[in-house]
Amino acid sequence: MPDTAAPTGTLAQQRNADRELNAARLLRASAKHSFDPLTEVDWAAPVDPDHYALPAHRVTLYGTPLWDRLDERQRAQLSVHQLASTTAAGIWFELVLMEGLVRHVYANDLTTGHAQYALTEVADECRHSTMFARYIAATGYPSARPTRRAERLGRLHMFLNDTTMTFAGAIFVEEFTDAMQREMIRDESLQPLARSVARIHVVEEARHIGYAKPELERRWARMTPARRALFRHALAHLARQSVAEIVHPRVYSLAGLDPAEARRAAAANPHWKQARVDWSRKAVDFFSDLGIITPATTRRWQRASLLP
Ligand SMILES: [Fe+2]
Ligand SMILES: [Fe+2]
Repeated sequence: MPDTAAPTGTLAQQRNADRELNAARLLRASAKHSFDPLTEVDWAAPVDPDHYALPAHRVTLYGTPLWDRLDERQRAQLSVHQLASTTAAGIWFELVLMEGLVRHVYANDLTTGHAQYALTEVADECRHSTMFARYIAATGYPSARPTRRAERLGRLHMFLNDTTMTFAGAIFVEEFTDAMQREMIRDESLQPLARSVARIHVVEEARHIGYAKPELERRWARMTPARRALFRHALAHLARQSVAEIVHPRVYSLAGLDPAEARRAAAANPHWKQARVDWSRKAVDFFSDLGIITPATTRRWQRASLLP
């Protein structure tokens, strides 16, 4: 599909100049602050089974009767498995994003900074997914595979080849992850390995957000009202499905709990709802300001616990 964001005329020239300026800034920042997680992270350090990987109040079952049934070590393990599951969802999303970025480059001229930065971001995401997979293996969590439902959604996204949705989805997932990981970095009581991974990811993802936001703004400004209406619903669906993917039911069976009962408890848990609302806030504010979340779709975001 041709790059529909490539406009013509004076305003278009100005937009392309802005796009190039932003790309130059991002390329400079990438040259200065990029990390090789294979050497930057101490993978050989022992993992303490009593360390939480996420703050306790961010674990899906915190404050429920099921939580009371677990001892401290089991709660810490549950937090580690929840983070491993979220990390597996991160790999799923990064692979879909990389595919979208490569297609974006394919539709553009690689002598532009804009296209060169897209490839730089792909290189970042390659390192992230490898780092995430290593983290999952280090925790003993059994798989980095997404659920069948997520795998199908990813294939549908690749088939539809909607670059604007790729950027919007990236903003949602990257802001959500950023908020979660910043909490992990601030909390010194958490597992050091999880915090090292979070630190590298937060630094590099800030650039990705800075790339996707103006690109989505440019594309949204050029979209027809009919397409905007469809896009609002499609993005709400994508956000809901992405967040549903972050806690695989196996995290509960690994804790010796009944997955169906635990999922019901998590769904009704106000602490877990608050976590999702807090982590979604920056993306939701951005989409609301742009007019992508409007009263027409507010209920959908609320039902997914991404809006209060
Ligand atoms: Fe990433
Ligand atoms: Fe990213």
